[in-house]
Amino acid sequence: MYTAAVITVSDRAYEGIYEDQAGPVVRDLLKDAGYDVVKEVIIPDEKNKIIETLLRFSEGQIALIVTAGGTGFSKRDLTPEATKEVIERATPGISEYMRMRSSEITPRAILSRGISGIRDNTLILNLPGSPKAAKENLSFVLPALEHGLDMLYGKKE
Ligand code: MTE
Repeated sequence: MYTAAVITVSDRAYEGIYEDQAGPVVRDLLKDAGYDVVKEVIIPDEKNKIIETLLRFSEGQIALIVTAGGTGFSKRDLTPEATKEVIERATPGISEYMRMRSSEITPRAILSRGISGIRDNTLILNLPGSPKAAKENLSFVLPALEHGLDMLYGKKE
């Protein structure tokens, strides 16, 4: 069983202006897929805070980190920029596939700038922030992730 962490990136959820719904949706999907979700946090749309949290969780040897939110065009949407500074190897196919399949649902799917990649023993994925979008995007790629983690952890060639 691989460990996972869920990071909701949202100023308004962090301030308690609304209740975080994306985080619990992502956590439940991961749990249903067999992941041990060991961390769930809500942080503001601050690049340094996102970087610091991604580094802390990857140094904690969490296998999969999923972020929700901050991938759009608002000036405060900086999750992809923070993720780019943390990853060592990009995994563009994952994010490309999310956008491709999501485009069948909404033309606005191309507005998500989310990226994904590997740092040491951790795969990091960006999802859009609405509960619906987060659920759809993660569902599209979840079936392939375990095989990728098996390769990362040397369980498969
Ligand atoms: N992807 C799916 N599957 N379903 C959606 O409803 N919404 C889009 C896009 N991706 C959406 C989606 C919209 S409207 C935006 S603005 C972007 O994700 C970015 O969302 P974010 O700023 O919450 O990260």
